[in-house]
Amino acid sequence: MLEIWKGKQILQLKDNCIEQWFDVLNHGLVEDRGFSLNDSNIEEIKSNIKKDYIEYLMSCSMDKNFHGYYVFRDEQNTIVAVCRIVFENGDYYLEGLETHRDHYRKGYATKLLFQVLHELKRNEIMKLYSIVRNHNTKSMNFHKKHGFTIIKEDNTNTKFSLNIENKIRKELFDQWARSYNNSVLKSEKEGTYPFAGYSEIKYSIIDMISHTKKAKVLEMGVGTGEITKPLYDLGYDITGVDLSDKMIEIAKIHMKKAAFIVADFSTALNQISNKFDFIVFSYSIHHLNYNDQIELLLKLNDYLNEDGVIIIGDVSTFEVEEMNQLQNKYSAIWDDEEYYPILKKYKLSRLIDIYKLSYVQINEVAGVYKFRKK
Ligand SMILES: C[S@@+](CC[C@H](N)C(=O)[O-])C[C@H]1O[C@@H](n2cnc3c(N)ncnc32)[C@H](O)[C@@H]1O
Repeated sequence: MLEIWKGKQILQLKDNCIEQWFDVLNHGLVEDRGFSLNDSNIEEIKSNIKKDYIEYLMSCSMDKNFHGYYVFRDEQNTIVAVCRIVFENGDYYLEGLETHRDHYRKGYATKLLFQVLHELKRNEIMKLYSIVRNHNTKSMNFHKKHGFTIIKEDNTNTKFSLNIENKIRKELFDQWARSYNNSVLKSEKEGTYPFAGYSEIKYSIIDMISHTKKAKVLEMGVGTGEITKPLYDLGYDITGVDLSDKMIEIAKIHMKKAAFIVADFSTALNQISNKFDFIVFSYSIHHLNYNDQIELLLKLNDYLNEDGVIIIGDVSTFEVEEMNQLQNKYSAIWDDEEYYPILKKYKLSRLIDIYKLSYVQINEVAGVYKFRKK
């Protein structure tokens, strides 16, 4: 369970909360300060350290740059992990992430991190930074394992950043990976948002591509490989990008020799140097907002061979109004965090300067776009 200590609330914390909070941090503090446990006045040293820590905690209540102490309690309501988020020069930093020494390897730090990320996202904070001492191998590994990317390093420190939205989305898709295909089938069978028409979209994408022999195909948001697997079996050269390694694990079972990149769309492009005949987004581009969709589609022009085509199959409508009507109709299950393609938005963008655009509405909820390089 997550608890957040902020501002004046810190001054009203009960003694046992402060005791438990300090107990999490109270590990190796004597040695860190250059003292020995054999020092004759060890009790006084320990008591001074504790006093310093508590003074620091109290001072956070007045610090404008202090965003909050995040405290994780286990089922017994004991504080088992803590961290703080501080605000510096417009950026948010993760600091002091610690697990109680008796509770290592129980996943509490990971649980705390996820809850902090969800909380930050609720506050519309999209990026989290963290600075780690290079010799702190445990913390370095923790950051790498959780998808933080190194943005700066020197002999002493490494600075990491984490795209909060992508991290949360990756976790969702990792969890969904094994049941994803069944969810699609179910939604399609019921003929409802979001996957009504999925098979029709799938086969129209395959049909468009299979007119070109030996094409190179890049699928952005490849998922379990449902769309590209038939093409792979026909001998097409497939590259799949996805931020969920669990999704890619499944896609790999069906496309053993295909190339895969586990990364978000933009990061993946930095790792791609070749060009493609087709770039496919099947139910994936809607994870970007409209502005980012257009920027990405513009950028992808450089990754297309002459006459290359971008195909988008997704929940889609001609007009904004129709999308709003769909949203009302399916309000109980509508995902507010997705930005489904709308023909009008693309038509009014710079995309039409560099692409010849065609569109087919498959049914009430789905459509397929073809952007041919001009
Ligand atoms: C709904 S699934 C679609 C999978 C597959 N294309 C299909 O049609 O079945 C969306 C996929 O896009 C991936 N995804 C979402 N946002 C992404 C991003 N920003 N970068 C890379 N992959 C992303 C997800 O991990 C997920 O596997």
